[in-house]
Amino acid sequence: MDAWGKELVVELYTRYAPDVERLQRFDAFIPTIGKSYAGEERRLLYLMTRFIEPELIIEFSPKRGWTTLHMAAALEDNHKGRIISFELDPIYAALTKRTVKTARLAHRVEVVVGDVREEFPRVYGDPGTWRSAPEIGFLFVDSDHSAEFAHWYLGNLFPLVRQNGVIHAHDIEASPERVVNQEPLPLEPTGEEKVLAEHLVRHRDRYRWFSVADAVRDHAYLAAVRPWGGGDLSFPPGRVRLHPTEKRMGFERNPSLWILQTGAQESKTYPDRPFEPLHRTLKQRLAYETRKQIASFYAPLRERRRMRRQTSPRG
Ligand SMILES: C[S@@+](CC[C@H](N)C(=O)[O-])C[C@H]1O[C@@H](n2cnc3c(N)ncnc32)[C@H](O)[C@@H]1O
Repeated sequence: MDAWGKELVVELYTRYAPDVERLQRFDAFIPTIGKSYAGEERRLLYLMTRFIEPELIIEFSPKRGWTTLHMAAALEDNHKGRIISFELDPIYAALTKRTVKTARLAHRVEVVVGDVREEFPRVYGDPGTWRSAPEIGFLFVDSDHSAEFAHWYLGNLFPLVRQNGVIHAHDIEASPERVVNQEPLPLEPTGEEKVLAEHLVRHRDRYRWFSVADAVRDHAYLAAVRPWGGGDLSFPPGRVRLHPTEKRMGFERNPSLWILQTGAQESKTYPDRPFEPLHRTLKQRLAYETRKQIASFYAPLRERRRMRRQTSPRG
């Protein structure tokens, strides 16, 4: 694969501009579920999914399904592919199902409720659920931003990514080189960011990557994508009323890192590297099981309450 990074994205804009414009049909979801992936990130997620043309996307995690929606829409436009999406919170899982059903994309998505670290090996080991080659072509990561969690997916899932497979990691504010070189950064990197950056730089012979945070600071990139409907940022330069944290973040809310695995797939079996499971008392386990049972009818009620609170004069 030759083109990668900003050049590839510009090319994808020229190829798929009318389809990017059609993403506006999802704008009605924005007030309830679309706060992240609000600007360039949203279009890039769609474009890269078109480009990768995956048979299977492994997503963790969807929350209310905004990212799932954009990937599912791209799969639909590719006329192939499906998503297995892992969500810890049963209420969010139910809302994701509702989101994709409302958008008539439910046939592209299967939502698995539980801790991805426990559920993934079960799904990977079950040919009836996996129904694909024993490899990951597109891995979408946006869950727990701790170092421990990053160690789990680097040890267990990165080895399953096929050659020329793509990994998307959200909430990566700085490029890995800057993190590893301990350059002064506007925001302290998360544990996940540090562990991922060290892994990529240590194995730089096996990966290529590009940072959305860097792309949107590049005037040449913005000028190239604007004629095609791109370059509309979450926090455009010149917007005056920014929260101090947002000012420090740059121009995209929680930007992502796109990683191309150029090296060969390391393993076709789940590596089973250990992790510290979530500790729940018996009472907490029972409460979790109850949430799972009631999620499909309780989730819409809870969302309506949340929206009422947000729109009430005191809210
Ligand atoms: C930042 S949100 C994802 C947002 C979503 N991608 C979007 O843009 O709308 C992180 C989600 O990860 C889920 N999560 C955290 N730890 C998890 C785990 N171990 N397994 C599965 N899901 C997890 C949380 O419940 C939450 O819904």
